Amino acid sequence: MTPEQFLEFARVLPEPLLLVSGEGQLLATNQPVADMLGLRRQELRGKMLFELVTQSTDDVVKYLQACSSSRAMVIGSLTLRKNDGQTLICRSQGAVIQPWSPESSSLILLRLENRTLASSNFVLLNQKIDELAKEVQRRKQAEEALWKANQELEIRVEERTTALQETLNELQLTQTQLIQAEKMSSLGQMVAGIAHEINNPVSFIYGNLHHAYKYTHDLLKLVQIYQQLCPNTPLEIQQELEEIDLDFLIQDITKLFQSMTVGTERIQEIVKSLRNFSRLDEAELKQVNIHEGIDSALMILEHRLQARHEYPEIKVIKKYSQLPNVTCYPGQLNQVFMNILANAIDALEALAVNSQTTDNQKLTNNNPQIQIKTEVINEKWIAVSIADNGLGIDEQVRSKVFDPFFTTKTVGKGTGIGLSVSYQIIVEKHGGQLSCFSVPGKGAEFVIKIPVNSVS
Ligand SMILES: Nc1ncnc2c1ncn2[C@@H]1O[C@H](COP(=O)(O)OP(=O)(O)OP(=O)(O)O)[C@@H](O)[C@H]1O
Ligand SMILES: [Mg+2]
Repeated sequence: MTPEQFLEFARVLPEPLLLVSGEGQLLATNQPVADMLGLRRQELRGKMLFELVTQSTDDVVKYLQACSSSRAMVIGSLTLRKNDGQTLICRSQGAVIQPWSPESSSLILLRLENRTLASSNFVLLNQKIDELAKEVQRRKQAEEALWKANQELEIRVEERTTALQETLNELQLTQTQLIQAEKMSSLGQMVAGIAHEINNPVSFIYGNLHHAYKYTHDLLKLVQIYQQLCPNTPLEIQQELEEIDLDFLIQDITKLFQSMTVGTERIQEIVKSLRNFSRLDEAELKQVNIHEGIDSALMILEHRLQARHEYPEIKVIKKYSQLPNVTCYPGQLNQVFMNILANAIDALEALAVNSQTTDNQKLTNNNPQIQIKTEVINEKWIAVSIADNGLGIDEQVRSKVFDPFFTTKTVGKGTGIGLSVSYQIIVEKHGGQLSCFSVPGKGAEFVIKIPVNSVS
């Protein structure tokens, strides 16, 4: 770079710049240098750098040599001697722009910077950096707080949703229980009422049958005595004796009384069963015979098992094992038997209707039956299985049968609470298990497992 080129480019720059030779001779300076020193630019021409500074010639030469031999900027400090006699400490940055050669000395560009200004700028810059760093920190913290709040909000929303879902489930469950309880209690009350109404007259009949038989027997004996003692009975009596066929009457009346006794005993059995089913008086835990509960539920459903119109008879095959008495809420267990048996009958009836309306062999069943099996699993558990050979349950439906209000039946036929309540009763009230198995098209099986001393 020639001094002219330097001047050309230094002219437009606001900072003080000097072009000096390796020996310290000023080759060119720009206006800011002159301003700094309080001189005119012409006055600077041809001067040596050490004439303008307070440092010794040696120090200045050493500094310039360092600049000449370094590729990087060399930072130094020069104290300028101003025209008005004052001094000005400057930071200088020197860089060689033409290295020394045998033909020409090296050329060094010096950039001066007022120390106080620089340091105040530096302080200002530092302040700015500090402020910026603080701002960045503040933003980071705000962002973190926001993220945290967001996270907390999400958790809260999730918790709320879960709580709401739980409440909804509980409400649904309570609703199903209420409906079922209402249904069962009116059914139970009706059954208990009927049982009571039948029981009284049947008791009279049964209680008097024995006397009636004895009286009849006595009267017949009297007739026989008459016959023996008065062989010449008047014609009118003879005719009457022939008409009523006394010999046959004597034979038949015994049979008649026997069958009347069997009949009334059967009615008493039914009454007992009805009472057993309703068990209105037994909300408490009791030790009961499970088979009696199943039989009483069957008794209530008896009318649906017999052949009717389009439905063939449903056979009930009982495979009862020797079971210990089970500690349970008997009225509730009876509800479960009733629900599962009623579903089995529904499935068999649906199949019967299907058989009449379709040619599909898979959907016909000429031998509708319900198999009830009981067994002891071990000394602590028993199992009751109720299986039908009805329509069966698709896998898709099977996963939902215990859900409250799930039904595949038409309005009025099913409400979808039978199995959900049964599940509640078996699993939650008795600590047992209720499972459903099915081969679609072949039938369904419900297995109840309960501990012998479940709720103790
Ligand atoms: N033995 C079975 N065979 C075929 N499907 C069955 C059987 N038992 C239950 N299901 C299916 O499970 C569903 C739910 O049964 P659940 O007893 O809970 O309700 P529901 O019988 O429809 O109505 P509700 O019992 O309240 O009168 C039934 O709608 C039916 O689709
Ligand atoms: Mg049902």
